[in-house]
Amino acid sequence: MSLLEIKNLNVSVEDTIILKNLNLELDKGEIAVIMGPNGSGKSTLANSLMGHPEFEAKGDVTLDGEDLLDMEADERSKEGVFLSFQYPVTIPGVTVSNFIRTAINTRRDKKDPIKISEYVKLLNENMKLLNIPKEFAGRYLNDGFSGGEKKKMEILQLAMLKPKLAILDETDSGLDIDSLKQVCESINLLKEKNPDMTFLIITHYQRMLNYIEPDKVCVLLDGRIVSQGGPELAHKLEEEGYEGFR
Ligand SMILES: Nc1ncnc2c1ncn2[C@@H]1O[C@H](COP(=O)(O)OP(=O)(O)OP(=O)(O)O)[C@@H](O)[C@H]1O
Ligand SMILES: [Mg+2]
Repeated sequence: MSLLEIKNLNVSVEDTIILKNLNLELDKGEIAVIMGPNGSGKSTLANSLMGHPEFEAKGDVTLDGEDLLDMEADERSKEGVFLSFQYPVTIPGVTVSNFIRTAINTRRDKKDPIKISEYVKLLNENMKLLNIPKEFAGRYLNDGFSGGEKKKMEILQLAMLKPKLAILDETDSGLDIDSLKQVCESINLLKEKNPDMTFLIITHYQRMLNYIEPDKVCVLLDGRIVSQGGPELAHKLEEEGYEGFR
């Protein structure tokens, strides 16, 4: 069954059309990878799925049959859309632990916040699973974090929130060889524990696919998906570049 259906999506920013009649379908539990040159519209796609108000989106987009474009960003996140940003923001004054707890509670009934003891247990489990040192829980979110540490915090949020659709925008960029492997292994672990979780992974490099096996690879060029295939498409791109798709 398809989880996400994008039909004729057109997205513009200040009268500039960026995504042009984009069509994409993701099955429940599928791992899809989007590759495309700089400026092709990958982050625009991610942001417009998340409901960033700067992007004007027209077309039909449904998640589990619900119309996404009608929803504000916070409703989309409650419905289970999660975006890991290309450039995660710093939130001084708010600890990692409090940030994630608030995020969990906004997705729950107001009268039924998560019990602190249950939360702490869950956080500790996931931090251990992702190999994140304990002291990070008490640090302000992303404040003074290295690029790689910020990306790991995004994966921690993902593990804690368990969205239906996880969009990862260049989560692999800026990661050293070991961190890349670790982050990919964490994603695989999450997937193993939550087989229904659907991933839309934006990346520039085939190397991420040495660790994560996608069901689908899509090439985004100039605001359109110009090709779809299996993992072999990523190898072809690595060897030949985008020229052959223009
Ligand atoms: N807020 C904005 N105002 C004006 N133009 C924008 C805005 N956001 C995106 N664009 C333009 O839309 C195009 C697509 O940008 P986008 O960030 O989606 O590309 P991308 O595929 O994610 O690139 P990269 O690989 O460099 O991250 C670019 O030409 C960009 O300049
Ligand atoms: Mg981008």
